[in-house]
Amino acid sequence: MKKNKHQTKPKVFVTRKIPGPALPMLKKHFQVRVYPKDETISRKELINGVKWCDALLCLLTEKIDKEIIDLNPQLKVISNYAVGFNNIDVKYATMKGIPVCNTPSQEVIDAVAEHALTLLMGVAKRIHEDERYVREHKWKTWEPELLLGTQVKGKTLGIVGLGRIGKGVAERAGHGLGMKVIYSDILKDRGFERKYNAKHVSLSRLLKQADFVTVHVPLLPSTKHLLGKKEFSMMKKTAYLINTSRGPVVDEKALIWALKNGKIAGAGLDVYESEPKVDKRLTVLQNCVLSPHTASATREVRIQMSKDAGENILAVMRGRKAPKTVNPEVYKKK
Ligand code: DGY
Repeated sequence: MKKNKHQTKPKVFVTRKIPGPALPMLKKHFQVRVYPKDETISRKELINGVKWCDALLCLLTEKIDKEIIDLNPQLKVISNYAVGFNNIDVKYATMKGIPVCNTPSQEVIDAVAEHALTLLMGVAKRIHEDERYVREHKWKTWEPELLLGTQVKGKTLGIVGLGRIGKGVAERAGHGLGMKVIYSDILKDRGFERKYNAKHVSLSRLLKQADFVTVHVPLLPSTKHLLGKKEFSMMKKTAYLINTSRGPVVDEKALIWALKNGKIAGAGLDVYESEPKVDKRLTVLQNCVLSPHTASATREVRIQMSKDAGENILAVMRGRKAPKTVNPEVYKKK
């Protein structure tokens, strides 16, 4: 019998067709199975795929928990096609010695920072209401007080979490838009403070002083509901909240309460507590701009993410450290 040339190649399971170089790159070296439907993979199909493969390339829509990890003792790497990795039980993967990889790159930082500022400008200028007004043929004449927004220059931007994306937002807002920058983070960055004339403050001071609060912390047990009723009550009534990090960092019920009761002026949101479900009450509020978790959705980013996700698998399968590993301590164990 003729030997199938793929028989000995390691197997990679990809949970959804992704654009960019990853799939052609992986197909050169491995047997690659891609979940064929253009939809989020079901748990059942995920289980089948994980049982079959040596390496997994997954999306943030898949929950890679203990049950999934335990399905396959041969699993060599979990490569997440995302920067955030709250969909993966990293602690358990680490215990099992499995590298978990992600796709942070300058491209993602730039895109998310741009999107955070797009939401900020959009809600400040009421661009979503402007748009609707024109499309719905409500516009009859120029009026001095038609759809008045708020100026951004000179206003204070409060950055919650000064990681690379937080810094990207600060750079653009401070130097480009003429905003004053304050930030809260467990670490102080003196170099950053000098460069952007920024000030490190506590979270409560930030909430009291900022005209715009933008959230850039990862979702961890310690950051879940970081902003709730108490925090919104501290904010200025004229202030806006921007969230491009992860939905559960904000207590959405409390946010709706704050938006409805004039505790804050508005919000720009890209992420939600139970996405893709968005609370109906949010969708009918005029004082928020909503996008469907598309902060990183540029062609440039998707290509880079694909390259990173593919290269992470390639490296681990060749016995090397992946360029972007969330739990590098696994390499010490081997
Ligand atoms: C990420 O990478 O974590 C974004 O939320 C989606 O690209």
